[in-house]
Amino acid sequence: MIDIKRHNAGFCRDHFLVHCREQVRRAIHDHKMVEPGDRIVVAVSGGKDSLALWDLLVGLEYDVDGLYLGLGIGEYSGESVQFARKYASARGLKLHEVDLQDDLGFTVPGAASVTHRSPCGACGLSKRHVFNTFARDHGYDVVATGHNLDDEAAVLLGNVLRWETGYLGRQHPVLPSAPGFVRKVKPLVRLGEREMAAYCVLQGIDYQVEECPMAEGNRHLGYKEVLNALEERSPGSKASFLFGFLERAHAQFATVAVEEREGLSACIECGSPTTSEICAFCRLRERASGVSLGEGR
Ligand code: AMP
Ligand code: FES
Ligand code: ZN
Repeated sequence: MIDIKRHNAGFCRDHFLVHCREQVRRAIHDHKMVEPGDRIVVAVSGGKDSLALWDLLVGLEYDVDGLYLGLGIGEYSGESVQFARKYASARGLKLHEVDLQDDLGFTVPGAASVTHRSPCGACGLSKRHVFNTFARDHGYDVVATGHNLDDEAAVLLGNVLRWETGYLGRQHPVLPSAPGFVRKVKPLVRLGEREMAAYCVLQGIDYQVEECPMAEGNRHLGYKEVLNALEERSPGSKASFLFGFLERAHAQFATVAVEEREGLSACIECGSPTTSEICAFCRLRERASGVSLGEGR
């Protein structure tokens, strides 16, 4: 029996799997995440969320391949790719691989030490860049990521605490396509972390349990702890925090985000949309890899 306090319900194995599939189907439908004929690429880290998402999308009969990005975080990265490969090969699915070191000349720890910034910043920037450019260059219409309800509620709390109005405008389960951007979707927004772990166990999906060693002690984990404490006291808090925002407050921040996206031009190095001549990713790459911009042109 799998107990989900937020829904005040307990599920047997089969009904739990139906529940997960139904939540994903509903998220896709309510937020118009996928159009008929769309090719989807799911960003797969080897963790429970993205592998469960891939499994759920395949189960819902979408045309979906995987994309793994090697971040160069020592043993952690070496191990994570094995989980992604194992899942794909056991099911005959197509997994693309991009490696920051081999393909772009730097690693996340290397970039963090050169820039003296947090590894998570360089990591997030690299992921956003690679997922978007890979999808754009390989004819995918949609990038799906495994962000779940816990992730989204924690990001929302962080954005609200600092009143990051631009980020609040962009915080949505769907970011529509725009010139230079493919659509980004988060079909797991209606499912929590515990549900995704249970899903993997029930479906026999082996995943990397270890968390990223570089993320230890970061703010995001602190927000998750605070929200878990609230959820413990009043089940449903996380969902009402996130869905209340999406239904009643998001629109008030969205126009700023749309205006920001419309004022962008193409990076002269990689063609990605940017506010300056050269995008933030290419600048990071130049510093971290030691390769001068222009050499690759
Ligand atoms: P995180 O930023 O680690 O919380 O991960 C959020 C989502 O980004 C995951 O659910 C995946 O969809 C995707 N992701 C994270 N790391 C990778 C990676 N190394 N390769 C591909 N996708 C990833
Ligand atoms: Fe990005 Fe750890 S996964 S810094
Ligand atoms: Zn660029």
